[in-house]
Amino acid sequence: MNTIENHLQHATLSPSHLRCEYKENPIGIDVLKPRLSWQMTSPGRGAKQTAYQIVVAGSPAGLEAAGGHLWDSGKVSSGESIHRPYEGPPLASSQRYYWKVRVWDGDDQPSAWSEPAFWEMGLLSPADWQAAWIQPDLEEDTSVSPPCPMLRTTFAVDGGVKSARAYVTCLGLYELALNGQRVGDEVFTPGWTSYDTRLQYQTYDVTALLRRGENAIGVTLGDGWYRGYLGFSGQRNLYGEKLALLLQLQIVYEDGRRQVVGTDESWKAATGPILKSDIYNGEHYDARLEKSGWSQINYDDSDWSGVQVIDHRKDILVAPMGPPVRKIEEIRPLEIIHTPAGETVFDMGQNMVGWVRLKVQGEMGTVVTLRHAEVLDQQGNLYTANLRSAEQTVQYILKGGGEEVYEPHFTFQGFRYVAVEGYPGQPTLDSLTGVVIHSDTPPAGHFECSNPLLNQLQHNIVWGQKGNFLDVPTDCPQRDERLGWTGDAHVFIRTACFNMDVAAFFTKWLRDLAADQREDGSIPHVIPDVLGRSSGGATGSTAWADAGVICPWTIYLCYGDRRILEAQYESMTAWIGTMQAQSGENHLWQKGFHFGDWLSVGSSSPLFPAAVTDIDLIATAFFAYSTSIVQQTARILGKDDDAEKYGALLAKIKEAFRQEFVTENGRLASNTQTAYVLALMFDLLPEDQRPEAARRLAADVRKRGDHLSTGFVGASYLCPVLSRFGYLDVAYDLLNQDTYPSWLYPVKQGATTIWERWDGIKPDGEFQDEGMNSFNHYAYGAIGEWLYQVVAGLEVDPEAPGYKHSLIQPQPGGGLTSVRATLNSMYGQVVSAWELAEERFKLAVTVPANTRATVRLPAASLEQVTESGGALPNTAGIERAYQDGDDVVVEVGSGQFEFAYSSDRFKGLEKPRKLSIHTPLQTLLESEGAKAVLAKYLPDLSDSPMLSQAMGFSLVQISTFIPHLLTDEVLQALDKELAQL
Ligand code: BGC
Repeated sequence: MNTIENHLQHATLSPSHLRCEYKENPIGIDVLKPRLSWQMTSPGRGAKQTAYQIVVAGSPAGLEAAGGHLWDSGKVSSGESIHRPYEGPPLASSQRYYWKVRVWDGDDQPSAWSEPAFWEMGLLSPADWQAAWIQPDLEEDTSVSPPCPMLRTTFAVDGGVKSARAYVTCLGLYELALNGQRVGDEVFTPGWTSYDTRLQYQTYDVTALLRRGENAIGVTLGDGWYRGYLGFSGQRNLYGEKLALLLQLQIVYEDGRRQVVGTDESWKAATGPILKSDIYNGEHYDARLEKSGWSQINYDDSDWSGVQVIDHRKDILVAPMGPPVRKIEEIRPLEIIHTPAGETVFDMGQNMVGWVRLKVQGEMGTVVTLRHAEVLDQQGNLYTANLRSAEQTVQYILKGGGEEVYEPHFTFQGFRYVAVEGYPGQPTLDSLTGVVIHSDTPPAGHFECSNPLLNQLQHNIVWGQKGNFLDVPTDCPQRDERLGWTGDAHVFIRTACFNMDVAAFFTKWLRDLAADQREDGSIPHVIPDVLGRSSGGATGSTAWADAGVICPWTIYLCYGDRRILEAQYESMTAWIGTMQAQSGENHLWQKGFHFGDWLSVGSSSPLFPAAVTDIDLIATAFFAYSTSIVQQTARILGKDDDAEKYGALLAKIKEAFRQEFVTENGRLASNTQTAYVLALMFDLLPEDQRPEAARRLAADVRKRGDHLSTGFVGASYLCPVLSRFGYLDVAYDLLNQDTYPSWLYPVKQGATTIWERWDGIKPDGEFQDEGMNSFNHYAYGAIGEWLYQVVAGLEVDPEAPGYKHSLIQPQPGGGLTSVRATLNSMYGQVVSAWELAEERFKLAVTVPANTRATVRLPAASLEQVTESGGALPNTAGIERAYQDGDDVVVEVGSGQFEFAYSSDRFKGLEKPRKLSIHTPLQTLLESEGAKAVLAKYLPDLSDSPMLSQAMGFSLVQISTFIPHLLTDEVLQALDKELAQL
C-alpha cells in the first residue's frame, strides 16, 4: 500500500458541531424546514463525505429507539454536509426535535452517530398566542423621554414542572424577571426590525426559575428604537407613542397538564427608578425610587396602576433569525486623567460600545454623572461636539447605605473616555468597568502578520465591527444616527464575513430590507427605514440600495446559503427593476438622488485634484454589477429565462457604459481612482482596454505619492483591483502608507477603531467638521477583505461556495515576513499562514474535512517545492500539482499541508520598501543613501535653481519637466537602487 492509500484508509470521519439554521440547539425558531449542518473531523488527509443519514425524533429516547423516528432521511448519497433541509412531517409549535447524523467516507465506511442535538419550534401561528397585548395605564408625556414603566403579575404553580417557556415581545424594549431573577442574558430585546410588519419575540426556557406555589413576573419596558429619539432630525415616537407588552408563559407539568399564564387585564403597572432611558441620550436612574422586591411574590402592588388590553397585530410576530445582542466582554480602564478643564476622565484604552458599570458608595441623594466621548480634544479635554445631539450621559442618584453597583438598561454609548462628575470620594480604576455589547456573532476569522501597524489596523476593523453590529449593521454607534445605512453594510459585508459568522445576522436584516422595500422596488437608505418615516422619500441611492443585491450574494458565497438567494430573489430583482425603469431605453442611470463616492478625498491642488467621480458613472456601474449578480443568482436558482434576460440587460448596460464613459484608449470620463476601480472590478471594460485602465489607476496612486483618493465606494475595491490587474506592489504601498489619506494614518494617530473620515483628526491636530466626524465607522475597514483574500490568500471559489472549495493564493509583499489567517467556515477551520525568510517561502495550509483547496504557490517551480519535507507530487493527499506560468498550482483534499521553496523573486520582499521614484524629493534628500543614488544619476541636481520648487514632487513627476535626463530607463535604474536602501 503506498502512502496515499495509507492516509486515506485511516480517514475515518466523525461528525460534530451540529447546527440548525446556523445555531447551536436553538429554541424558539419558526423556520418550517430548518436546515441542518455539521462538520466532521478526520485524522487523515483527503477526508470526504460520500453519504449521510439524518434522523429526527421527538425525544432523546426516540432517537435511539428503532421505530421512534419522526423522520429518517435514509442514506443519502451526497457530499453535502451543510444546510440539509428537514424533510419530515410538519413541525409543531413549541415542540422540541432531537436529531443526529452519521456520514459515510470515501470508502463507503459509515461513521459513528454524532452526539444528539436539538432545535425547538416557537409559536408558529398567531392563534398560538392566547396572551393579550397590554399597555401600562400611566400618565406619560411622550414628547420627551418618560420614566420606564414596570409591569407585574403573580400566578400559582400547582405541581411538578416538566418544562416552562416564556414567549415575550413588546413595543419598545423589555427586560424580564421571574421571581426576582433576570431571565436570559440578552439585551435590547426584542431587537430592531421593521416593526410594522416584522416584530420579533424571544423564547426563554424558564423551567428552573419556577417554583411550586406562588410565582411572580416583572417586566421593565424601555423606549428603544420604537419610541425613543431616532434619526438626526430630533424626532421621537417614530413607530408609536405607547409601549406595550405581550408575554405568554407555557408550563407543562410532569403529569402532562398544561397551563398558560399570559399578559391580560389583571397585570399591574407603575414607574420606578429609571427616570428616562434613551438610546442616544443615556439614562437617568434614581436608586431612591427602586421598588425592592417588585418582581417577586409578597410585594404589595396595591398602589400600582392597572393596564389596558390593546388590539395590536399578532400576525407580524416572528422568531429571531439573527443572534441576540449580549454583553460580550468587559474592559478595565487604563488610567484616570485630570483634564485642563478640570474634568475627571477615565480612559478605557479602547473606543468601545456599550456602557460602564458604576461602583460607588456614598450618601443618599448624591448625583453621579457620566459623560461619554470618543476622543479628547487638542487641549486634552473631553470632546463631545461630534456626537451632535446625542447626549450620551448617564446619571445615577445614590440610595445610600453601602456599595451600589449600577448598569444602565436601554441605552448604549460609543466611547473611549468617560468624564465622571459628583463621585463621592476619590474614584479609582475599580469604580468603572466597560461593558462591551454587540450582536453575539460567533468569532470566525483571525488575521495577524509581522507588521504591528497592520495588526492594529485589523484590531481597529474588528472593533469597528463589534461596535456597529448591534442587531442591525449601523454606520456609527455614538452620534444621533446609529442607523442601518445600506451603503456602509454593502462595502463592509465581505470583511465582516471573515471576522465573524454574520450569516444569521444578515439573514435577519435582509428580511427587513425586503419588508421596507418600496412598491416600485426602491430600497431605502437605511434599514429599518426610519428616515422614510421621519423625512419621506429616502430611497434608491446607487451603491447604497445595491446592498439588497450584494449582501445576499455575499452571504451565499461565504456560507453556501442558497436559501438566502431564494428568500431575497424577489427583492433583488425588484431593485434591478427600479434601476431599469429609471435608466430607461439608453441604460444609463442618470436620475434620482445618489450619495456618490461619499467622503472621497477633496483637494484644490492640480497635482492632487479632488477625486470627484461622476455620479452617473457610479450609478451605471452599480446597475451593471447588481445585474450581473442577479444574473448569476437566477442561474443558480435554475431560473434560466431570468438568467438570460438579465444577461441581455447586462450586455446593454455595459455597452452603454462604454459608449458614455470610456474613450477609445481606455480613459474614463472621470479620471479618478474610483472610476477606474469600478470599471475594472465590475468587468465593464473590454479585455483590451483593461491594461491601460489599470495602468492609469496605478499611475494615479503613484502620482499622489502612493495615496488613495477614494471615498466609501471606491475604497473597498481599490486594493483588490490593483492586485488583480498586476499592481500588487502599488496595493501594498497603499496599505503601508501612513500619511493622510491612508488606512494607517489613523493608526499612527492612535486610533483603536476605524474612522469615518480619512482625516477625522487632521495632521495639524484639528478635528474634521464636527457635523460628520465619527471615530467608529466601519466603512473604510473594508480593506480587511484584501488582508484575508490577498495578503493571506484565503478565498472562496464562487463555484463551490461556503469554502467547499477554497482558493489559497497568498501574494507576499509589502515587507511582510509572516502572515497568518484562519477562518472558521461552515465546514471547519481553513488556515493560510506563510513565512518569508532569506528568499525561502513557507506556506502552511489547513483544509477542513469534506472540502478541497487549490493552492497557488507564487514564483515557484514544481521541482523545487516540498510538502512536509517530501518532494511535491509524491506526498499523500495531493491530488494534483502542476506548473502554471510562474506559479505552482496544487490541488489538495482536506488536511494540513506545509509547502516550502526558495525563489530569487522574493529577494528584497522581506524589507518594507521605504523609498522609490514615487517618494517626494524632500524625503529622498533626507536619506544619505538616496542622496548618493541621486547624485549618481542626476549630478547637477543640487545646483538646480528649481530645486526648492520640486521638493514636493516625486522623481516620476519631475521627469515630466526633464524627460531627457530622467528617461524611463534612468527611472527604472533609480527605482531599483532606491529599493535596496
Ligand atoms: C452616515 C453614513 C452614510 C451616509 C450616507 C452618514 O450620515 O453616517 O455612513 O452612509 O450618511 O451618505
